[in-house]
Parts: sequence; structure tokens; C-alpha cells
Amino acid sequence: MAAIAPKIGTCSRYPGTAANTLAPQLNPNPTNPWLFCTAPMMDWTDRHCRFFLRLLTRRARLYTEMVHTGAVLHGDCARHLAFDPAEHPVALQLGGSDPQALARAAEIGAARGYDEINLNCGCPSDRVQEGRFGACLMAEPQRVAAAVAAMRAAGGVPVTVKCRIGIDDSEDYVFLRRFVETVAAAGCATFVVHARKAWLKGLSPKENREVPPLSYETVYRLKQEFPALTVVLNGGIRTLEQCEVHLRHVDGVMLGREAYENPQLLAHVDSRLFGDPQRPPARAETLARLQPYVERELARGVALQHIVRHLMGLYRGQPGGRAFRRSLAQHAHRPGAGWGVIQGALAEANASSNTAAFAE
Ligand SMILES: Cc1cc2nc3c(=O)[nH]c(=O)nc-3n(C[C@H](O)[C@H](O)[C@H](O)COP(=O)(O)O)c2cc1C
Repeated sequence: MAAIAPKIGTCSRYPGTAANTLAPQLNPNPTNPWLFCTAPMMDWTDRHCRFFLRLLTRRARLYTEMVHTGAVLHGDCARHLAFDPAEHPVALQLGGSDPQALARAAEIGAARGYDEINLNCGCPSDRVQEGRFGACLMAEPQRVAAAVAAMRAAGGVPVTVKCRIGIDDSEDYVFLRRFVETVAAAGCATFVVHARKAWLKGLSPKENREVPPLSYETVYRLKQEFPALTVVLNGGIRTLEQCEVHLRHVDGVMLGREAYENPQLLAHVDSRLFGDPQRPPARAETLARLQPYVERELARGVALQHIVRHLMGLYRGQPGGRAFRRSLAQHAHRPGAGWGVIQGALAEANASSNTAAFAE
């Protein structure tokens, strides 16, 4: 594959710089598979969560939690990689650093039907650092390039990378450019970039999602210098208005915490960002469409609480929302808990709000 050379000549537009100095250049492209993505989140974006999110948006690209190659190759692979066909398009995120192990895991993921294999180069946790993967891989672009090349050869689906804009005291931008250039030359055409550095010492993973400052300009600049790449911006995005602003500069956006904590936002993605004519689904409609899934999973022995925990944000900010959450938290873990728990939570919310909000 030909080397991907950055358009270095455009650098002079960024003399250390503010976002609004960057001229808007793109129009959102509704045929771009990465236009709107939900983020990989450990313990959050499991298969129940993804099924629920898919009821809210047909178009978003959904990412799994990170799955380590060891779990795929030596663990309960069927459990770790299970997903429902309704989840498509769905990407499997892998964690690991050994190119051959990553290639075998990518092959298995692709054979199981995932639409994309994503390599985690952004997680800063201590455990991940001990395994020398996640964000510390940004210091080893050649290793990541070798992994990407092996994964592409093995899997036959797009291999993408999720990274930060840098680690620790890496030189700003030059470090990111070198990483992207090296990995792109191995055939990675899509980069999801969390627009803050990872500080590998002294911060918890949670702090590493909040403390290092966001620099959206750095990600915009990456797109300008590598126009042939698909660049997806992640980090701190809370509204669809903000998505629209970013989509003037990059190809796609990825939302993590806001998508999870306020999932009704996703109900508006298809119409607003993709131009789909359908009306956004109302909350109660989404729950009604979830019922057959819940009953099927209960019949397979899944405990209700494993599904219900992902619904807590659905009525966030709505009258009765607190009563809804409280009722679910009180009843979902009880033995024998079934769909009636969700109906009960809706009834309690209605009673507490005394409005028609829960008909919506
Ligand atoms: C609970 C939680 C778990 C996460 N797990 C992962 C993960 O497994 N892989 C990954 O690449 N990023 C992970 N992240 C980071 C998110 O994918 C995302 O990059 C980060 O939250 C910033 O986006 P946001 O501001 O939209 O939430 C996690 C974030 C959270 C909140």
C-alpha cells in the first residue's frame, strides 16, 4: 500500500490556535459509515446496552466494550463476542499488543460477523499499561502498524484505530502525525481520536477522561493534513448541535458518556444527522419495542437487572424520571423480576410526575 503522506503545507494555518480560525470545509456525509458512532465503554456497552441503543437509532455505528485478545483466544469467546443481528453495524474493539494474537482475534471477530475490528490505543488504565497495550501503544507506532497489517490480512473487514491526541509529554501534534502516518501506511483508513492526551502516571481512567484538556483543533488539523483518511472525533460531545459543528471539520463523531447517560439523544440522530424522514421514537415506544427482547433474554436465564441497568438514563431530565430510576433500582434485582418491573416503574413515574410525560 502506498505511504499516506500528510499535506504538511497546510500547517501554517495553525499557529497555536483557536478553533474558529479553522475554516469549515466538510458537509456531513450521510453515506459515511462513521458519521455517528457510540463509544466502546467497558462494563457499559455490553450486548444488552447495544440492543437498546439500536432501538433508538438505526444508523449509528455501535462499538463493543474492549475485549482483550486473551479473552477471545483462551476465554469464553462465545460469551465475549455474542451480539444480536439487530446490532449491525457493530464494531468489535480489541485490546492487545501482540500482532499475531490480534490477527487471530480479528479473524475470529470477522468470522462471527462484526462489521469492523477496532484496536484500542487510547485506554490509560494501570492494568492495560502493565500489558503494554491501550494508550501506551501510541509510543510504538511500528508495532501498531504491524498489528494493523496482520489484522487486515486475517479478518477481511475494516481495521480501525481508536487513539488519543498524545500521551504524557509527547510533543504536540508531531507525535500524533507520526503515529497516524505510520499506522495509515499499514492500511488503517479510519482513526477515532479522543481529543485529549492520556496521562499515563497519576490519573485514574476516569480522571483521564476529564482532566487532560480537550483539543478539538488538533483533530481538525489531522483531517486537514490527511484528507484521504476518515477521522472521527471523540471526547466531551454532549449535543447534536455540537456534533454538527464538528462535522464541518471531521468525517464523524463518537459519543460515549452522553449517549449512555442520556440515550434519548440518539433518538434524534437519524433524522437530524442522516436526514432520515422517520419521526424520532418516543421513549415509551422504545420500551415497548424492547419488551420482546427482554422476555427472550429472561427465558434464556439472563437476570433482568443486567438489561435494566442500561435504561436508567432514558427519562433523564423528565418529570418522574427519578421515580422511574428509583423503582427500577429497587425491584430489578429481585428473584423472578420480569417485564412487570418496567411497567411498574412507568406507573410510579406517572404517579409521581402527575403529567403525561410518560405517554411520550
Ligand atoms: C465507563 C467507561 C468505559 C470505557 N471503556 C473504554 C473501552 O473499553 N475502550 C475505549 O477505547 N474507550 C473506553 N472508554 C472511553 C470512551 O470510549 C470515550 O473515549 C471517552 O468516554 C470520551 O468520550 P465521551 O466524552 O463522549 O464520553 C470508556 C469510557 C467510559 C466512561
